[in-house]
Amino acid sequence: MAKIEIIKGDITTLAVDAIVNAANNTLLGGGGVDGAIHRAAGPDLVAECATLGGCETGDAKITKGYKLPACHVIHTVGPVWHGGHKGEPELLRRAYRSCFAVAHTNSVKSIAFPAISAGVYGYPMEEACSVAMDEAKAALEHYPELEKIVFVTFSDGALAIYQRQFKTLFP
Ligand code: AR6
Repeated sequence: MAKIEIIKGDITTLAVDAIVNAANNTLLGGGGVDGAIHRAAGPDLVAECATLGGCETGDAKITKGYKLPACHVIHTVGPVWHGGHKGEPELLRRAYRSCFAVAHTNSVKSIAFPAISAGVYGYPMEEACSVAMDEAKAALEHYPELEKIVFVTFSDGALAIYQRQFKTLFP
C-alpha cells in the first residue's frame, strides 16, 4: 500500500496538504502535538480557531496552516480513554472519518496524522493504531483521489507498533 507512509518525527515539519491536530473541544490550543502545531503556525492559527466555535469529540474542522509548511490544519478531537467501554473506539473512528471527510471536501490529497488520543488522552497505542490503520484502509477505498496518508509517530515504541500493524493489515 504505497499510499501509506509511516515515519517517526515532528508533524509540524511536513509539507503536506494538511496535518491533523489532536486538539481539545475548545480548539484554542493545549499541550502535546496541539501545542507544537500552534507554536509552529504562529498566533494567526489560534485567531482563526477562535472563530470556529469549538469542536465536538469525533468531529473535525479545517483552518489554514499559516507559518507551517503544511497548507492546512485539520483539527479533530479524539476521546479521552476511560477503559474502553465508554464508546472510545467508536469516537476515535469517528475522529479519523471526520478528518478524511473534511480532507475530501477541501481537495486535500496528502494528509498526516499524529496518534490521536494516544498521548495526554491516554488511549493505548496498540488500540489507537489499530483504529487509525483500519480507517486509513477504508478511506483509501472510499476516496480514490487521496494520494498519501502519513502516520507520524513520536517514539520508537509507537513506530514499531505502527509498522507491525501495517504489515498485518497490508501483507
Ligand atoms: N509530532 C508528532 N506527534 C507528536 C508531536 C509532534 N510534534 N508531539 C506529540 N506527539 P497528544 P491527545 C504525539 O497528547 O492524546 C493537548 O493538550 C504524542 O507523543 O498531543 O489526543 C490537546 O489540547 C502522542 O503519541 O494528544 C488536548 O487537550 C500523540 O502525538 C490533548 O492534548 C498524541 O498526543 C489531546 O490529547
